[in-house]
Amino acid sequence: MKKAGVAILGLGVVGGGTYQILTEKKEYFKKTQGVDITVECVLEKNLDRARSLGIEEEKIAKSIEEVVCNPNVDIVVEVIGGTGVAKTFVTKALKSGKSVVTSNKELFAKHWPELEAEAKKMNVGLFFEASCVGGVPIIRTLQEGMQANKILSIKGIINGTTNYILTKMAYEGSSYEEALKEAQRLGYAEFDPTADVEGFDATYKLSILSSLAFNKKVCIENVYREGISAVNKKDIAYGKEMGYTLKLLGIGKDTEKGVEVRVHPTFIKNDDPLASVNDSFNAVHLVGDAVGEIMLYGRGAGALPTGSAIVSDVIFAAKHSEFFYAGFENNKKGNKDTKFVSDFTSKYYIRMSVTDKPGVLAKVSSVFAKTNISIFEVRQVSENEGTAQIIVVTHECNESLVKKAIEKFQKLEEVTAVKAVIRME
Ligand code: HSE
Repeated sequence: MKKAGVAILGLGVVGGGTYQILTEKKEYFKKTQGVDITVECVLEKNLDRARSLGIEEEKIAKSIEEVVCNPNVDIVVEVIGGTGVAKTFVTKALKSGKSVVTSNKELFAKHWPELEAEAKKMNVGLFFEASCVGGVPIIRTLQEGMQANKILSIKGIINGTTNYILTKMAYEGSSYEEALKEAQRLGYAEFDPTADVEGFDATYKLSILSSLAFNKKVCIENVYREGISAVNKKDIAYGKEMGYTLKLLGIGKDTEKGVEVRVHPTFIKNDDPLASVNDSFNAVHLVGDAVGEIMLYGRGAGALPTGSAIVSDVIFAAKHSEFFYAGFENNKKGNKDTKFVSDFTSKYYIRMSVTDKPGVLAKVSSVFAKTNISIFEVRQVSENEGTAQIIVVTHECNESLVKKAIEKFQKLEEVTAVKAVIRME
C-alpha cells in the first residue's frame, strides 16, 4: 500500500479540521483509497491549540526547517493564510521536494506562477482545491471533469460572508451594518471584514477559477471589483418586489470580444438557481459547449468542508507521482495576447431620488433616450415632502453609456441623488 507523510502548517479552524479528518479517517482511506496517510508533524505557534487537538509533543515541529528536512514528510499542507510567512514556508517546502496543498487563495492568486515554477522544477505537486469555494470540488471539476468542453461562462456565489449578509438583509430587512455585526458575532465575518465585503476574496477566487476555466491567465488586476458595503436594504426590497434577488457574483465569460471577469453586487431573477443559494452557502454555475449547464453547491468555508477539499488534494498527491500544472502560459502579468473586455454590457437597475413634480419622469426618460439606453421597466415610489424614488431597469447596454447617463442625471436639478446603480444578469 502507498504511504504518505503529511505536515500541517497552521492549526486554525481549517488546519484543525484537516487534522481531524486525516487522523479519524486513516483506516477508511486505507480501505477506500489504498493509501496510508500519517500526519507526521504540525507547525503551530499556539502550543495549547496543538495540544487541545491531542497532537503528541514530538509531532509539534519547532521550525519550518524541521518540517522540510523531515524525510517522512511528503506533503506539506499550508493553512496559515496571507502572503507573508505562508509564501516563505510554501516556497521552502517546494524547494525541498515536498508536494504542497494549500487553501490560500490570496497566495495563489498573487504568486501562482512563481510557486508553480518551483513545483515544476522539483517535479512535485501543487494543489489548491480548498482555495476556491471551500468544500465544493470546483477545481477538480474544471481540471478533470470538463476537458471535453470549451467553458463559455462561470458565474457564482463564491464568498459566504457576503452571501450571509445579503441574505439577512433580504429576509430580515436588516441594514448592511446590522447584518455585518451579526455575521461577525457568528464568526462568518472577520473583525476587519474588508477582504470579504469589498470583494477581494471573491476576486482572488475568480482570477484562479477563470484562469482554469478559460485556459488563459487571468490576473487579479484583470478582474473588475466592487463590494457590498454600499448596498442599501431599500434596493434589495425594491428589487425583490420587481422579481430580483441581489447577490455578490463572480462572473467570468469567454466571448468573441475577449475575456470578461467581474465581481460585483448583481440582481438575478428570483427563479435563477443561484437566487436560492442563501446564508453562507456558495454555488458555481458553469456553461460548457458540450455539457451545457452545471451547478455545484455547498459550503465555501468551515473546518470540515474546507478540510474535505484539502484532504482530497492530499489523497490525490499521495496516489500520484506525476503531476500536472497549468495548461496555459502562467505569467505573473498574464499573456499579452489575451484580450479583456472592460466596457462590458449588462442590464442595469438605477435608482434615483427626485423632486416629485410634473415633467420629472419625462426628463429622466429623455436622458436615457439621448444616451441611447433602452428602458425595460420603470417604477416610481412617491415619498413624503415632494420627493420620489424613480427606479429604472434598462435593457442590455454598455457600461460606458450608463456612466454617461449618470453624469447627466447628476446635472439635472430635479435629481437629488443617484442612489444605486446595480448590474443585472
Ligand atoms: N471568507 C471566505 C468566505 C472564506 O466568506 O467565503 C472562504 O474563502
